[in-house]
Amino acid sequence: MSAQARSLILGRRFDQRPLKVEWPMGHTLISGITGSGKSTTMNAIIAQLAAWSCIALFGVDLKLTELAPWNRRFTYVARSHAEADSLVAWVLQIIDYRQDILVGAGLRDWHTGLGPWIVVVIDEAAEFFGLSTHEVNQLIAGGSVDELLADPETKKQISARLSEAKTAKEIRSANLETMARTARALGIRILLATQYPTAAIIGTQVRAQIDYILMHRVDRTEHVDVSLGEGMSKTIPPDSIAHDEPGAFYYKAPSTRPVKAKGPLFTDAQIFERAAATAHLRWDLAHLQAPAELAGAEVAY
Ligand SMILES: Nc1ncnc2c1ncn2[C@@H]1O[C@H](COP(=O)(O)OP(=O)(O)O)[C@@H](O)[C@H]1O
Ligand SMILES: [Mg+2]
Repeated sequence: MSAQARSLILGRRFDQRPLKVEWPMGHTLISGITGSGKSTTMNAIIAQLAAWSCIALFGVDLKLTELAPWNRRFTYVARSHAEADSLVAWVLQIIDYRQDILVGAGLRDWHTGLGPWIVVVIDEAAEFFGLSTHEVNQLIAGGSVDELLADPETKKQISARLSEAKTAKEIRSANLETMARTARALGIRILLATQYPTAAIIGTQVRAQIDYILMHRVDRTEHVDVSLGEGMSKTIPPDSIAHDEPGAFYYKAPSTRPVKAKGPLFTDAQIFERAAATAHLRWDLAHLQAPAELAGAEVAY
């Protein structure tokens, strides 16, 4: 393992020292309102991971923009809910394969001699769960859609859509929780971004599986408490990061206090350049799904 030790630079602390984390870090949540710098921070992390041949990347990008530059480096980028559901099914399948590999090898933890690290990037968790912005707002406000709509027909349609979305959300949420819970020992990590770090979006089951937090600017108490932990809004109130500090975030690793840092600013041109330079390191889905090949010592990383 020591031969494979690598560190990721997440940004700079406010005293200018680099903020480093040893890979493999755990599952990670990037939270913050729109414009707070989530995608930029996510891209800075992806840019470093992409350069390592022992990393396979999967992405969910329902906004069709954020992960687009990385298409050629990612094994698969899901652009619709149907594709995202397939992606989750594949990852759950890979988890099964990897469980067999690990048991077969008599090991407790993954190492790259068995296959690459797999990173599943989900940009905007709320959309992944299948809720529209309107529905999300309703859930957050805890209000009823019915009260807002006078027209009975529209009311009926919206109610039906909402309960459908809630069911889909529950299934996806349960899958994500299973994925997060079982994946850690199998070399699979989740990198999740959301502008809605709330109990309604990131359920407690999913939240419990997340080890590392990069909380950018948020404007609600609940967003702080779900991101950094219950009661943390007392010491780090909402708006602790100013409007004019995009890219700034509070970083929290397990059993440590949050520290304030700022992510690097990656331009689109730099991202495209890095993506092109690393495209040849892309892992084929077929390879990740073939345990016999993965288990072979002849695979070089
Ligand atoms: N680390 C940074 N340093 C300086 N400016 C940043 C940084 N991160 C983001 N920004 C600015 O903030 C804008 C929004 O960032 P973005 O990552 O798209 O936010 P989000 O994904 O949270 O909506 C960027 O276009 C950029 O101008
Ligand atoms: Mg974004």
